[in-house]
Amino acid sequence: MKAVVRTEKLGVFALMLIFGLFSADLPFSSAQTIFNVLDYGAKADGKTDDSNAFSAAWKAACSAATQNPTVVVPSSKDFLVYPLTFQGPCKSSNISFQVIGTINAPSSPSVWRGRNARRWLIFHGVTGLLITGNGTFNGHGSEWWDLSCSDHPSMVGCATIIPVALNIIHCKHSTISDIYTINSARYHVVVNQSSDILVKNMHITAPESSPNTDGIHIELSQNVLVNNSVIATGDDCVSIGELSSNINVSYVTCGPGHGVSIGSLGRYGNSVKVENIHVKKVNFKGTTNGVRIKTWQIGLGYARKISFEHITLESVKNPIYIDQNYCNNFDGTRGNCEPKSTGVHISEVTYDDIVGTSSSNAAIYLNCSQSVACTGITLSNIKIESNKSGQQVTSECTNAHGTDSGVVQPKSCLQS
Ligand SMILES: *[C@@H]1O[C@H](CO)[C@@H](O)[C@H](O)[C@H]1NC(C)=O
Ligand SMILES: *[C@@H]1O[C@H](CO)[C@@H](O)[C@H](O)[C@H]1NC(C)=O
Ligand SMILES: *[C@@H]1O[C@H](CO)[C@@H](O)[C@H](O)[C@H]1NC(C)=O
Ligand SMILES: *[C@@H]1O[C@H](CO)[C@@H](O)[C@H](O)[C@H]1NC(C)=O
Ligand SMILES: *[C@@H]1O[C@H](CO)[C@@H](O)[C@H](O)[C@H]1NC(C)=O
Ligand SMILES: *[C@@H]1O[C@H](CO)[C@@H](O)[C@H](O)[C@H]1NC(C)=O
Ligand SMILES: *[C@@H]1O[C@H](CO)[C@@H](O)[C@H](O)[C@H]1NC(C)=O
Repeated sequence: MKAVVRTEKLGVFALMLIFGLFSADLPFSSAQTIFNVLDYGAKADGKTDDSNAFSAAWKAACSAATQNPTVVVPSSKDFLVYPLTFQGPCKSSNISFQVIGTINAPSSPSVWRGRNARRWLIFHGVTGLLITGNGTFNGHGSEWWDLSCSDHPSMVGCATIIPVALNIIHCKHSTISDIYTINSARYHVVVNQSSDILVKNMHITAPESSPNTDGIHIELSQNVLVNNSVIATGDDCVSIGELSSNINVSYVTCGPGHGVSIGSLGRYGNSVKVENIHVKKVNFKGTTNGVRIKTWQIGLGYARKISFEHITLESVKNPIYIDQNYCNNFDGTRGNCEPKSTGVHISEVTYDDIVGTSSSNAAIYLNCSQSVACTGITLSNIKIESNKSGQQVTSECTNAHGTDSGVVQPKSCLQS
């Protein structure tokens, strides 16, 4: 017995020795991995500008040679951060930004004077970025909303350039998860010119009346998945813009808001390339739209290989919607456009298993261009009823071609 015990002790000792030797040999073992913004001078009193501390913590983490350096924004603290860019590339192949406390934007638009008023926080050119935690980005957008030209078009000095809260620009292989973002001045999260991005477990909220406060906007990007998130804002829950492909949206609860939108595309008469967009398991509650595609008459190119599947609707105004006839009238309003010979070709769009209630009569509204019709549309297993008992809903198609199968209620209006 004694001998055995001794051997075990020796064994443990040997292991400790080996482990100690190994860790002494590892090149980065003593290097720092946690970069707490408090250690870089953040006051966290919600009043002092903490931007320099955030910037310094990021620079230190980004230039660290450790595995997965982590910027930490600790709990039970209120930080105030002015418009700021977290610039990559970083030395390590991965870097984390862990938010447990609350990061506040300045509430006064005057802070943006002399700065780029399009953005609040930018992560630019970073690979292997992980933004996570259970903390909050608070955009304090209400003063901006009061200035917004979309809500106050006749107000002298109204603002058309308003900051997006979280900008992921030129990033790759990155994840944003478990974050709360509230009351952004404009879009809450933008993924632009990026690839292989996962956005999951997000909670995004702003008042239903707040202008242009889209939840997540994706543009000029490839391989993006938005998953398992709750989005309730004043504009689109998720919107997908120009030159985007392989974009998936799944397990999202959307509403209030304007629904999930592809577009508007081709606004400047440019050539659009949008394809492989898959939207599934989205529950819409009291939104103005469900699944929508909107393109400008003057646009060119295509939006194709799009699917909307396993969707539920509760009192949604326009559940299934395509408008290929966006135009600006001379007075700045939209709609009632003169036919044009151009258009973005919409094709191979599948609607499958879409059930629930509509708060307007037009449950299916597909208004396609007379010059570049919609083709290859399929409708299957659709059951949409009015949210008012005894009322009928309708389907209305213009230049929309395709096939239907299974139950389609209201009945399909597609042309063959
Ligand atoms: C870096 O992050 C990516 C994406 O989040 C992940 O797949 C990969 O395993 C991470 N690598 C390391 C070394 O942590
Ligand atoms: C938030 O995250 C921190 C760190 O991961 C954890 O200690 C804390 O319990 C979490 N708080 C909540 C409310 O989930
Ligand atoms: C995305 O990036 C392009 C190119 O820089 C820019 O023109 C566009 O305004 C950006 N979109 C958003 C929503 O930030
Ligand atoms: C999106 O979904 C499609 C079809 O289910 C799948 O083939 C593709 O890999 C997914 N892409 C992403 C980025 O999740
Ligand atoms: C997406 O969310 C669903 C539902 O929570 C989950 O089952 C699935 O694993 C998630 N997928 C990814 C890639 O995160
Ligand atoms: C389709 O859009 C055109 C152009 O905006 C409009 O004039 C027409 O009334 C719309 N059709 C329906 C059925 O609403
Ligand atoms: C129908 O939807 C409208 C708009 O969301 C809502 O105001 C109304 O209360 C709903 N009616 C019923 C019976 O749910």
